[in-house]
Amino acid sequence: MKPAVLVARRIFPEAMARLAEHFDVSGNPDDEVWPKEELIRRLQGKAGVFVTGSEKIDAALIAACPDLRAVCTMAVGYNNIDVDACTAAGVLVSNAPDVLTETTADFGFALMMAAARRITESEHFLRRGEWNSWSVDMFAGADVHGATLGVLGMGRIGQAIARRGALGFGMNVIYHNRSRLSEADEAAVRARYVDKDELLETADHVVIVVPYSPAAHHLIGAAELRRMKPTATLTNVGRGGVVDDAALAAALRDRTIAAAGLDVFENEPALHPDLLTVPNVVLTPHIASSSLPTRRAMADLAIDNLIAVLAGGRGARPPTP
Ligand code: DGY
Repeated sequence: MKPAVLVARRIFPEAMARLAEHFDVSGNPDDEVWPKEELIRRLQGKAGVFVTGSEKIDAALIAACPDLRAVCTMAVGYNNIDVDACTAAGVLVSNAPDVLTETTADFGFALMMAAARRITESEHFLRRGEWNSWSVDMFAGADVHGATLGVLGMGRIGQAIARRGALGFGMNVIYHNRSRLSEADEAAVRARYVDKDELLETADHVVIVVPYSPAAHHLIGAAELRRMKPTATLTNVGRGGVVDDAALAAALRDRTIAAAGLDVFENEPALHPDLLTVPNVVLTPHIASSSLPTRRAMADLAIDNLIAVLAGGRGARPPTP
């Protein structure tokens, strides 16, 4: 008998078909995040669950789903999953790294450029019909080429962004990370390690690619924003909660910094209302990894992981005492 697997969100039909080759699979055609009770109800009798970054897999859910052996997310970030609770219960957790690195780095760079060059702000101006004539400093922004790029969080995506800055745009790249890269890795991305304060004070463009953890909560708040140059931009393609959105909105309003680009938010999909009132921020709905080939590759990797765990006989869950 095929193991039963629940896919918690709508995914590509080809991915569902591939799952059906290996599992007794049920999906979520409505593509809405189920309330926790509903998710628990649907997980009864399921050996595996395919999730995204949106479903909360916490200790209570794990305890209420005794048949569950594998939680596989198609995201690289897994702060929505209580890995300790899963591990303690013998439930294997897997994520989907690597396949989204370059696509997410492309988007991070695009968001930084859009913020620096005021692209959406000027587009909104056009759409409002306010353009009457060319003007010498109209939407004059900051240069990206040759500027100093500060990458906060130097994992795979951070390194891919650094590489774009150094090799593509002749930027002077500095970075800060919990642990320093090897000399060889630093040389490959042409980045210099600095402490966080120096990064904030020196960078013309700060790009955040830090995963969320309680230790990273509000890593960037009012005090950190005050350290930045008034001409600087801040871009976040890591996780919401790493930046204090209220403090950022205030810093954008009073021009403590020049502009921001945000793809992730503290309480997404809800946005801090103040962010919607400041013009100098580019806002996107957590789509940095969203190119079709990459989203397909992410789904495929999550399926590979489900197969490895469930069809490969791993993830045996000890009986509930
Ligand atoms: C990830 O994979 O973590 C991206 O943020 C998409 O959810």
